[in-house]
Amino acid sequence: LSGSEDQVISSSPTIGVFDSGFGGLTVLRALVARAPQARYAFIGDTARLPYGSKSSRTIARYAAQSARFLVEEQGADYLVIACNTASALALDAIKEAVPSSVSVIGVIEPGAEAAHRASKTKDVLVIATDATVQSHAYAAACRARGLRAFEKACPLLVPLVEEGWNNHPVTTEVLRIYFEELVNQASSQGLKPDTLVLGCTHYPLLRPLIEQIIASDIKIIDSAESTADKLVCYLSHDLGAPPEPTIDAPSIRCYATDSVEKFERLGSRFLGRPTGKVELVDLGG
Ligand code: DGL
Repeated sequence: LSGSEDQVISSSPTIGVFDSGFGGLTVLRALVARAPQARYAFIGDTARLPYGSKSSRTIARYAAQSARFLVEEQGADYLVIACNTASALALDAIKEAVPSSVSVIGVIEPGAEAAHRASKTKDVLVIATDATVQSHAYAAACRARGLRAFEKACPLLVPLVEEGWNNHPVTTEVLRIYFEELVNQASSQGLKPDTLVLGCTHYPLLRPLIEQIIASDIKIIDSAESTADKLVCYLSHDLGAPPEPTIDAPSIRCYATDSVEKFERLGSRFLGRPTGKVELVDLGG
């Protein structure tokens, strides 16, 4: 654990959750289900979304600003980097931007760990943004666990989900084309994949469509779920107690750098409950 052993954390710690937009609310949803007693502050850098097509330098700069906001202004004891792109390209920059007492959890390692547990053939497929795929962060995390990963960028999926087209014929067709390419390319390299990692915040919303399209024997890994499990391990370790049972109204405050109305309107789909009033934040340049 990166947090120091003597750090004092209240029994309801503050967990800062960061994403480039509101897609990361899928991760927040999984966190709240497991640790409802915690206080949550979520920031979506909606003004600068998408991160998935930007350079690592820019992503690191933006992500560090959000991380500082969550720690310095919201008092986060833990940071969950829900954004796969920021986890892939900026995890070190984020850790450097905050005190070492703050535990920082990205989504890549938990996703790869879950793939490792699920795969029997030890060959996995990963779909993600362009930047995540170019970083090969998932491939590296998989390789470290003895898995071969075939990664594919699916850049059209984020805008389709942002548009609310989670169950739309156009999205079905786009997915069909991507998966045909993915499976053909992976098998031409001699892989026999039995597991698919959803390596982007937005993809869990497409899971029902994906399940209709891919072979039924392929297991789907949602890194939101595995990341939330990892946070619970941290909390149990630091607080010495398992999470308390469900609380009716968890404490969640959401912030965005732009488009607060859109966040409130569409965010509930990702979070599975109303986001409440979203506050606008200016993170500077
Ligand atoms: N949050 C990003 C991710 O998980 C997707 C959206 C973006 O490109 O900023 O990779």
